[in-house]
Amino acid sequence: MKFIPVKGTRDFYPESMRLRNWITETWRRVSLRNGFEEYDAPIFEYLDLFTVKSGHEIAEQLFSFTDRGGRNLAIRPEITPSLARMINAKINSLPRPVKWFSLPRLCRAENPQKGRLREFFQWNIDIIGVESELADAECILVAVDALREMGLGADDVEVRIGSRPLTMAMLKAAGVPPESFEEVLGVLDNRPKISEKEFQDLATKVGLDGKQIDAIRVFQDVSDIEALEALAKGEKHFSGCQKDVDRISMLWRQLEDFGIADYCGLDMRVVRGLAYYTGIVYEVFGRGESLRAVAGGGRYDNLLELLGGPKIAATGFGMGDVVLEILLREKSCVPDLGRPVDLFVIDGEDGAMPVVTAVVGRLRAAGVAAEFSYKRQGVGKQLKEANRQGARAAAIVRADNVTVKDMATGRQQDRRLDEFLADPLAGLSDRR
Ligand code: HAM
Repeated sequence: MKFIPVKGTRDFYPESMRLRNWITETWRRVSLRNGFEEYDAPIFEYLDLFTVKSGHEIAEQLFSFTDRGGRNLAIRPEITPSLARMINAKINSLPRPVKWFSLPRLCRAENPQKGRLREFFQWNIDIIGVESELADAECILVAVDALREMGLGADDVEVRIGSRPLTMAMLKAAGVPPESFEEVLGVLDNRPKISEKEFQDLATKVGLDGKQIDAIRVFQDVSDIEALEALAKGEKHFSGCQKDVDRISMLWRQLEDFGIADYCGLDMRVVRGLAYYTGIVYEVFGRGESLRAVAGGGRYDNLLELLGGPKIAATGFGMGDVVLEILLREKSCVPDLGRPVDLFVIDGEDGAMPVVTAVVGRLRAAGVAAEFSYKRQGVGKQLKEANRQGARAAAIVRADNVTVKDMATGRQQDRRLDEFLADPLAGLSDRR
């Protein structure tokens, strides 16, 4: 019998685990320096939490089950509903605004393909309690900050910004009945990922006629603030939407002030698949890519209320590790992540093994990453092992002296054992 991992899941052998840790550590560091605090929630919740307001796409992708007590539960496909539930439970005692982040493991029963798995990690950044678009701008800043930190520049990635209310106004103006909005939004969400012919077919299937499809195209092809403002002024149907146009213009100014406008662009084709978004929405893509977005988010001012709490403004995004890793590899941004070995300790003469163990014990107690070989073999072979493990230096120990060899420069220094132990990393090059 042969056991294999379930399709769409990943085993993390140490090499891939190092990359995963590097990504999550970068996310955590960037979150903290931008003023966000970490939270987490259970990996499974009551099924209803995810079916109430996330939309049917997510509902269809749930791993759900009934426990022995007959409760209907589901593994979390996203953490936003759990966040809303947690905030609602402590709404009166939490100082606002809430600026929280999380790094959950999520599961969606998707058809596995490039950039899409059934289990993945997703960095979440959310701000609760701020109505101003400055909170949306700050979330975008945090996303860009992380991408920049990982080496991705404005030529590599772009944040495409759209607006749910403007899209809805356009659908209304085109005569699309409100009860089909959710279904139509699902089709619009797919437009950037499929051909125009496929889009036309899907749109026809959900009941749109040629005129309506044309109206959608005209609106979605607007590509800058000036064109959007002009369209809004000219179209009488957008007369009630001036505040949403103003919001986008204001957001744009704030992105310029934050110094990240070169990472951003207006794109009215972005509507987002999840049902709960109410305002500005955005997705982050590799430039020129139609691969799944690396991140997506926006404003969801009604979700807390829909889940039984008060009406409180909220905004945020999720960034997935799977697409991010593909992007980092394509742009050669994956760093060389070696094992952190500072000193590889070698027995330099017969009978010196007890000195090796004593030295390793002392070094580790002092916080130095020290390694040694289980096999008693010649110094040359152990030096090769030190090199293979990426050690900064090798310490060849004898009864009372030691030769320290810097593995980067090859330089050797002979030191007394007690002097070496007092300052074991003295004069060595940085970690390789
Ligand atoms: P989402 O667009 O469903 O949003 O997911 C955000 C990101 O998670 C995607 O852009 C993608 O990189 C990654 N992702 C999603 N599904 C998969 C999958 N099956 N395999 C690999 N990666 C995936 C949300 O989840 C919202 N809750 C984000 C949010 C937070 N909005 C406000 N706050």
